[in-house]
Amino acid sequence: MKINSQSTKITSCKTNLLVIGLFEKEKLSKELSLIDKQLNGEISSIIKSKQFAGELFQSQTISTLKKIPARKILLLGLGKEKEFSLEILRKIAGLTTKFVKKQDFKEFATNLQTKIIKNTTIEQRTQALTEGFLLGEYKFTDYKTVDKDKIKTISSCIFLEDKKELLALNNGIKIGRILSDATNYVRDLVNTPAGIATPTFMANEAKKLAKNKSIKVKILGKKELTKLKMNALLGVSQGSSQEPKLVIIDYNSSKKESIALVGKGVTFDSGGLDIKPDAYMVDMKFDMAGAATVLGTMKSIVDLKIPHRVIGFMPLTENMPGSSAQKPGDVVIAYNKKTIEILNTDAEGRLILADTLAYAEKNYKPNAMIDLATLTGACIMALGYTAAAVMGTDEKLIAKLKSSGDETYERVWELPLWDEYQDFLKGDVADVRNIGNMKGYEAGTIVAGSFLKNFVEKTPWVHIDIAGTAWFIKETHYNPKGATGYGVRLLSNLLQNWKK
Ligand code: BES
Ligand code: ZN
Ligand code: ZN
Repeated sequence: MKINSQSTKITSCKTNLLVIGLFEKEKLSKELSLIDKQLNGEISSIIKSKQFAGELFQSQTISTLKKIPARKILLLGLGKEKEFSLEILRKIAGLTTKFVKKQDFKEFATNLQTKIIKNTTIEQRTQALTEGFLLGEYKFTDYKTVDKDKIKTISSCIFLEDKKELLALNNGIKIGRILSDATNYVRDLVNTPAGIATPTFMANEAKKLAKNKSIKVKILGKKELTKLKMNALLGVSQGSSQEPKLVIIDYNSSKKESIALVGKGVTFDSGGLDIKPDAYMVDMKFDMAGAATVLGTMKSIVDLKIPHRVIGFMPLTENMPGSSAQKPGDVVIAYNKKTIEILNTDAEGRLILADTLAYAEKNYKPNAMIDLATLTGACIMALGYTAAAVMGTDEKLIAKLKSSGDETYERVWELPLWDEYQDFLKGDVADVRNIGNMKGYEAGTIVAGSFLKNFVEKTPWVHIDIAGTAWFIKETHYNPKGATGYGVRLLSNLLQNWKK
């Protein structure tokens, strides 16, 4: 979808569909009153008859019968003016794409960005709308062959605005597009079947990024990983015929301040020998969402020209029950020399992250480390699909993430990493167990985070469990069913505001 701005009034805009918003009890603006008059009071009459009351997400289409240059009007309810927010704009924009497609329009024009929200600029409102439109329009269709021509797409959206605001508007569009394109890229990667999206496939995607001068990509294969003694990562890959990889994407490598992003890249999680039941295995192509999000974020920060060094790490492997698979009871010596007793082969994400965090800290000495992982089913039990769980060793970094989460609405909620939780990880045979020594999986998300803490020495570190937010079981306003691309906007916002 092309998105442009234009200095045209809604009264004179030639478009197939004019998208306009109204709050509850809002008086018609001067321009809208003019349109109302030209339409013989059509708008005021549907308001008077309570057919349209401006309630949030209410919608009404009006035919203009060629009395104004726009052919149809889509009237959207914005709810209570006091409760209006950037997230409501995003949601409204997402819903708009559904209306537009349903009614077979290919293009539309809107002035939704003119609706004032306290403490926001027109640039921010335009960005939020752009995100809602581009994220809402997304559909994963790579593997559809039948009736492909019937798949509906929108070709263009035009923001209508006063001439003096066009610069700000265009900036909002630009940033909104960078973030949405990167998010949609992550959605594509995560939705791609695991038979295609293997560790090698993901490494090749990273190579594409190296076309940018500011990016260097390093790919470590099985040979290099063996030499480095990254046995926790290698152990997980043992049962698979696919070669594991550790991909390192280094942006702005000469800058002093550096942030490491680490993403779990299990391209398929069968559970290994502790095999998952069918209902739990079916969506496990999504278990590389952390790595995909790191890749997508690297893409967005190149375009945003972030002035710091950002290093992305993607440990990539399958977790399969092949004949050389790791067995419950096996012990591995991790990269940092700690020994791990593998008591459940399905708790594999923490193993590949353990080696990667230790490797990143030792070899790159970043100022901060953030990891993202679809790590625990328990995270979905605790927070559902609404927020990711965040925990770590640095309260300042957690506070920054919370604030970026509130701003982007990719929200995070903190869980404690108190020492008491470590007690459950003490091993009989090795230094640490890879699952908690409990009745079941009590505090599963925290126990997994506590495990990771053993592999970070002194670098400020935060872990984000995205098990619930990376994959939706049903469509919402601007998120599709399946991969959401959660995290790109969150991390990009954090990096945009890093030194502010
Ligand atoms: N990839 C899963 C986590 C997961 C499960 C995400 C369900 C989304 C939905 C992870 O590797 C896993 O299997 N974790 C286990 C850990 C347990 C064995 C301690 C889990 O959460 O059940
Ligand atoms: Zn697992
Ligand atoms: Zn997993």
